[in-house]
Amino acid sequence: MTIPVLKPSITDEEIQAVVEVMRSGWLGLGPKTNEFEEKFAEYIKAKYCVALNSCTAALHLVTNALNLGPDEEVIVTPMTFISTVHSISYCGAKPVFADILPDTLNINPADVNQKITSKTRAIIGVDMAGHPCDLDELMKLATDHGLTFIEDAAHACGALYKGKPVGSIAPFTCFSFHAVKNLTCGEGGAITGTNEWFEKWFKEMRWLGISKDTWERSEEKHGYQWKYWVENMGFKYHMSDIAAAIGIVQLRRLSQLNQIRQNIANEYNQAFADIDWLTLPQERSYVKSSWHLYQVKLPDEISRDRMINHLLERGITPGVHYLPAHLHPYYRPLKSICPVASEIWKRLISLPIYPDLSQDDQGKVIEAIRNFKP
Ligand SMILES: Cc1ncc(COP(=O)(O)O)c(C=O)c1O
Repeated sequence: MTIPVLKPSITDEEIQAVVEVMRSGWLGLGPKTNEFEEKFAEYIKAKYCVALNSCTAALHLVTNALNLGPDEEVIVTPMTFISTVHSISYCGAKPVFADILPDTLNINPADVNQKITSKTRAIIGVDMAGHPCDLDELMKLATDHGLTFIEDAAHACGALYKGKPVGSIAPFTCFSFHAVKNLTCGEGGAITGTNEWFEKWFKEMRWLGISKDTWERSEEKHGYQWKYWVENMGFKYHMSDIAAAIGIVQLRRLSQLNQIRQNIANEYNQAFADIDWLTLPQERSYVKSSWHLYQVKLPDEISRDRMINHLLERGITPGVHYLPAHLHPYYRPLKSICPVASEIWKRLISLPIYPDLSQDDQGKVIEAIRNFKP
């Protein structure tokens, strides 16, 4: 058995929760989704939560709500999964890449400031690896220039920024509950936010623009009401009750699962502290990372492929997060200038981190890195 880089932690409780929904006769958007939304908003201390089928959907619903025009721009980090950037392109607007900070790999507020033009409408920051981006600086830039700030917290479920949960701070925060995220629903996502007006809007738009969802119209709730109106062209982005049932159990376990991730990160930090050729991930004093990823940096002179092969030969599958978005063929024509991201990604390796990683297996990873001849 190889040691993967990421893996979901599923117990009998999640399995039982799915079985109960399967037997209940209501599988789609319904009471379990409502329950998940209430519990997640409470945990995150957000005004509302709208549960969806992915973070890609969450990002798209938020960019769509901005009514972006083809001449308009959204500033975004290139160090992310491609969904973040596509959410701008889906609306016909132009992504403008701002460079990243070398320590946290998060978007650099100074470069964002330089790239703001009269066409800019929004800024999207990503909490890379679970380390919150510079929310105060980014939100101040947004306020000063009349822009919307959007936080992509796909990695940061349960992270804290200056003592506050990620999801309770930015006007819009997008979460992912994809298979290997800190909280998984199999597939899923959510938007949390600070302005409750948007809760109703997003709930309509996730269900094709229909102004009342099927559960709201169902006999069990009120006696069946067949009538509904479509006032907007929405999308089919809602969460299902099967996914929500998994999410409710995962949410109960989240603090504990994140604590295990933290312990794994501490263990790596200690074990690698004396390796002078390895740069370890940094956690700023005022944040608590959710440690979705554990990314180390190699120096220029060490071949990353050699390190990857060294690990693979020992039954360990590392990851690379990410080839920066501005270097993908689709976005290359924009000719974006992000020197830090363009250079640093070549030196990044993600090591295995997930709650069910055994001490034995973490020991194998540590030994493999320590035995590497630079
Ligand atoms: C930073 C980031 N944003 C967005 C997404 C998209 O999430 P989903 O797979 O839930 O659509 C991911 C998924 O890996 C991600 O890592």
